[in-house]
Amino acid sequence: MSGHIVLEPIQTAPEAGGDKATRRGFLIAAGAAGLCYVGALGYPVYRYLASPIEMASSASAVTEVTLKDAQKLAPGSVLMFKFGSAPAMLIHHQDGAWVALTAVCTHLGCTVQYESQMNRIHCACHGGVYDPRTGANVSGPPPKPLKLFKVAVNETGVLVSRA
Ligand code: FES
Repeated sequence: MSGHIVLEPIQTAPEAGGDKATRRGFLIAAGAAGLCYVGALGYPVYRYLASPIEMASSASAVTEVTLKDAQKLAPGSVLMFKFGSAPAMLIHHQDGAWVALTAVCTHLGCTVQYESQMNRIHCACHGGVYDPRTGANVSGPPPKPLKLFKVAVNETGVLVSRA
């Protein structure tokens, strides 16, 4: 034998019931389409649920961020930035105090916003409210406070580091 393989064509019997074969093909196609549909819906849900965990692990690899020229931020203003890949915020309060916090809601991971007129940090997803000076969860569904960073202001920028 020389390792030569001979392939013979497969003989198929003529279809006994053409309708049956068509129906089976339709069901297989419908099942495949259903799996694609579940995948298309399931993947974004998975990403939504996994993202706070990924952001937290990515942010933990970074220890400090320098925000060039952020010392010029007007009182009553906020600067959104990334600490690693996670959203964070630097608030310059009206009384001159500087506060930097994570901007990832501790409920389901939405990005929170500082509202200076309301003197609060608000999560629009489910109405969570945090204290803009301490990060404490004040009302709504968030189970934990926002994390505070250390802030050092100098003439060239603001250094934000892990507390
Ligand atoms: S994700 Fe912020 S309150 Fe639900």
